[in-house]
Amino acid sequence: IKRIGVFTSGGDAPGMNACIRSVVRTALYNNTQVSGILQGYQGMIDNQFIEMNSRSVSNIIQLGGTILKTARCSEFRTVEGRKKAYDNIKAAGIDALVGIGGDGTFTGIEVFSREYDIPVIGIPGTIDNDLYGSDFTLGFDTACNTVIEAIDKIRDTAASHDRLFFVEVMGRDSGCIALNTGIAGGAEAILMPEKETAIDDLIERLEGAVAGKKTSTIVIIAEGDQNGGAYNIAKHVKTKFDFYDTKVTILGHLQRGGSPSSFDRVLASRLGFSAVNLLLAGETRRVVGLKGNEIQHVPIEESINNKAFKLAPDMIELSHILAI
Ligand code: F6P
Repeated sequence: IKRIGVFTSGGDAPGMNACIRSVVRTALYNNTQVSGILQGYQGMIDNQFIEMNSRSVSNIIQLGGTILKTARCSEFRTVEGRKKAYDNIKAAGIDALVGIGGDGTFTGIEVFSREYDIPVIGIPGTIDNDLYGSDFTLGFDTACNTVIEAIDKIRDTAASHDRLFFVEVMGRDSGCIALNTGIAGGAEAILMPEKETAIDDLIERLEGAVAGKKTSTIVIIAEGDQNGGAYNIAKHVKTKFDFYDTKVTILGHLQRGGSPSSFDRVLASRLGFSAVNLLLAGETRRVVGLKGNEIQHVPIEESINNKAFKLAPDMIELSHILAI
């Protein structure tokens, strides 16, 4: 392998820049050149490659977002789109790929590497922490820290006004952000897709909070929860339970930005390093990840085909107990 192409794809996540830096510097250290591919799969199709050197990744370890930009690209899902991408990649002298992103990113390189003879490695980067093959994905820890900072602030005003807040967090179909931040932020209830909660059960819990003389209450709702989002839930709860003045906060995209935490920077650095080492050792079609404190790699199709369930039962139980 003489030249590795690195790209980010799907939703951006804090830690992606730290990971790009690690890929670039590990490759250069091993006398391998690196091209940055701009805007993910779209950049392959549009011929957007930039030469990376040690200095092009200076001072980016602390930056959120991705210096290579990202996009969701429908053209790459077509045979013609992938052919264009392959021709451009070959012409640019790129003979291996490292893709940082989520499920869609992995599916893209999986199909691509079956059609064309090009080694590929995937690195899990998404705030959702919903990928099989790694205990944690890049950006999850930072996003959780952002959310608890917001919950703490909401708690100040909720407690001052004796209010009930419904706070909706991201995660797509995963309740990882909701459960972790609900526990860390001392939420009175957490609603998430992996564990259905009926509105009547939620109301029972809220009545319990009132009986326990709680003057403010925070309910964290994962955006993928079956009850239809924070506004809808607040409306339904209000019809049967009117003890508190009720407010809704949707945290939205602020969860995606910001300087990566120390954990995400180190994880990104380790995964970038191991992705390049795998390629140079002749491996392909693997996803690198963290298992305990060890770096592991799994076949890419295994990561795509398995649903990650990362909600530890003890955490669900303790979230109830600590809310009394
Ligand atoms: O996958 C990351 C994520 O932020 C999800 O939590 C969320 O559902 C989605 O992306 C939002 O996507 P977009 O930025 O395209 O609106």
